[in-house]
Amino acid sequence: PTIYFTGIQPTGIPHLGNFFGSIEPWTDLQNTVDQNILMMLSVVDQHAISLGPLPAEQLRRNTRQMTASLIACGVDPERTLLFRQSDVPQIAQLSWILGSLQTTSKLARLPQYKEKQERFKKGDIPVGLLTYPLLQAADVLTFKATTVPVGEDQSQHLNLLGGLAYAFNKTYQTELFPIPKQLTREINARIRSLRDPEKKMSKSSGGERSRIENAFATLTTLPKVDSLLFQIIDSREKIFEKCQKAQSDTGGLVTYDKENRLAVSNMLDLYSAVTKIPIAEIDFSTWTTLQLKMNLAEAIDKKLAPIREKFEDLEKNRENVVFTMEDLEKQKCCIYNLERLIPYANLKNALQ
Ligand code: TYM
Repeated sequence: PTIYFTGIQPTGIPHLGNFFGSIEPWTDLQNTVDQNILMMLSVVDQHAISLGPLPAEQLRRNTRQMTASLIACGVDPERTLLFRQSDVPQIAQLSWILGSLQTTSKLARLPQYKEKQERFKKGDIPVGLLTYPLLQAADVLTFKATTVPVGEDQSQHLNLLGGLAYAFNKTYQTELFPIPKQLTREINARIRSLRDPEKKMSKSSGGERSRIENAFATLTTLPKVDSLLFQIIDSREKIFEKCQKAQSDTGGLVTYDKENRLAVSNMLDLYSAVTKIPIAEIDFSTWTTLQLKMNLAEAIDKKLAPIREKFEDLEKNRENVVFTMEDLEKQKCCIYNLERLIPYANLKNALQ
């Protein structure tokens, strides 16, 4: 069987990087692929504590809000098997087994580990940061997923995961695990950070401003204040405010020139991602940089308005929205429907 699997960390309300890199490609797939394909989307709450513990209440709220955000963005629980990672203990179990096939030095060489460990003093690095990719590999392999739609930044983890599936099969002389394929949509593979375009937009790193603001940064002065974040539920006012405050340059009319006008080019990239119009087909020759900001804000608001409404609706009526396993099973809703999950979590075979 063909199984698509992806995961998203409940570190907060998703930002535009998540939206364009992962959520929108997912809903597009969900709505177009063959009905026989099993679509699985996991809110990976255990990954969200890899940088250290969170208060339980916060993790629960973040998980709920991420789930609501996904549904608001068009993930359809009737079509996508949407579930919380920690509800399937077999995943953590498999992750431990995969650990026996992996070395610490290989894990420590992964770019994301190297980058994130810098936030800690030597000696204070959480174990979970190092073993994070094992848990990710286990997510995918537990269900024998064949295809993993993700943003470009996940390639390092996907390569490692392929290696682990191969190593497992070889060690135990089995063909249990398919080697999953990464599926990354070229056009939005990497939504650039607005402040530091070398970095991807990240919801767990940096302050509020880093998200949308980063894509507007010039190569010269960067805003000191780091207090704005571009979330999928930002109000129209907030969107305009952020776009207005965005860094630009004094180059007059808009041109697309990544080398010399990175900030302006990033804005155009984002505009293109939002409107789904390829850069080559956007007629920006008469736009000033200010007009670009306004057009961008307008486009973002148009895109996010229905999502924001749906999210607010789900949050308001959350008493009626099923988010616990018991509720969902009672409602025969496929979120957390373990009956459907367990056939794929056939670890017993793996261990024979
Ligand atoms: P996470 O939670 O950081 O991000 C979720 C998804 O959003 C994509 N993404 C981006 N895409 C384009 N531009 C950006 N700036 C950007 N920022 C984030 C990510 O590529 C991802 O697809 N390790 C994963 C979660 C995970 C997972 C899995 C994914 C856990 N288990 C199994 C796939 C399969 C992560 O941290 O994603």
